[in-house]
Amino acid sequence: MKYTSLNENLKFSRIIAGCMRTLDAGMDGNKLRNFVHNCMDMGIDTFDHAPVYGAGRCEKIFGDEVLRKDPELRSKIKIVTKAGIILPGQKGNKHIFYDSTKSNLLAEMDASLNRLGTDHVDLLLIHRPDVLSNPEETAEALTEIVKAGKALNVGVSNYEPAQFEALQKYLPYKLVANQMEFSVKATYNFFNGVVDNAQMNKTALMAWSPLGGGSVFKGEDEQSVRLRTVLETIAKEHQTDIDVVMYAFVLKHPAEIMPITGTMNVGRVKNAVDALELDLTYDEWYAILAASRGFDVP
Ligand SMILES: NC(=O)c1ccc[n+]([C@@H]2O[C@H](COP(=O)([O-])OP(=O)(O)OC[C@H]3O[C@@H](n4cnc5c(N)ncnc54)[C@H](OP(=O)(O)O)[C@@H]3O)[C@@H](O)[C@H]2O)c1
Repeated sequence: MKYTSLNENLKFSRIIAGCMRTLDAGMDGNKLRNFVHNCMDMGIDTFDHAPVYGAGRCEKIFGDEVLRKDPELRSKIKIVTKAGIILPGQKGNKHIFYDSTKSNLLAEMDASLNRLGTDHVDLLLIHRPDVLSNPEETAEALTEIVKAGKALNVGVSNYEPAQFEALQKYLPYKLVANQMEFSVKATYNFFNGVVDNAQMNKTALMAWSPLGGGSVFKGEDEQSVRLRTVLETIAKEHQTDIDVVMYAFVLKHPAEIMPITGTMNVGRVKNAVDALELDLTYDEWYAILAASRGFDVP
């Protein structure tokens, strides 16, 4: 395994295990504990959560069945969670909305810690930019959370550069990460300043849906069909599987992007780890980019 330093006190495994699909994957307590141990055996020490995954049930099962039953694990793993999305019905609301007000962020942090069965997370991310937010107030909430030791570090997710800079301006701590969509299906964050801004600020980038949510494997849309043709050729040349090539596409970038796996099938997670050894050539990387966008770079 390779590891990435987000700051002098925080290091994540380059491959992060996502827990969004815990319920869909039919994880009961034993299966989830085994999954965590299998990940650790492969060197994966970082687990990605959010209160909205399973409307809180993904965090709860991780807390009840992993951390409360095996408390020694807590000091061996890093936990990432998020705050700021309110699902329909959660507060009597009809519509989903984003809420980065201080009162909501403080309440969500406490609720996550309660469900996860821990007194702190290693990283708290604002899940999505709240259009109505005041960055000064959001920064105040994050500062209070860090001062209370409830999150050791803070960052954001799905933030564009100006949104990132606005929040950073009022925060006494460095935002250590931006969790964004990156995959062979979704390359837009390479072209909208997100990657450049992260490289300029030395902010870590985490990639959600690194396999495009699984759509490339069977999708019949034009982009998926184009991608499969190119990915299968490259995979054949390297005698590997197309998911290994898809992870390698994300890993190739010098920003040291950390893919967050979505599958909870250990064999498939291992393909992400194997991708650390596959260094795609420029020719291969740009061929995948062209297949993704439907045209070669000019
Ligand atoms: N910050 C955000 O806004 C945000 C948004 C979305 C997700 N996330 C994070 O990112 C993580 C990953 O997202 P994701 O689940 O969309 O990731 P993904 O890896 O792009 O997609 C996972 C899907 O791909 C399928 N898959 C994986 N390997 C496969 C293979 N070899 N053959 C066929 N199908 C395969 C999985 O099926 P199986 O499950 O059957 O293996 C699953 O349905 C989440 O767990 C969450 O932590 C964050």
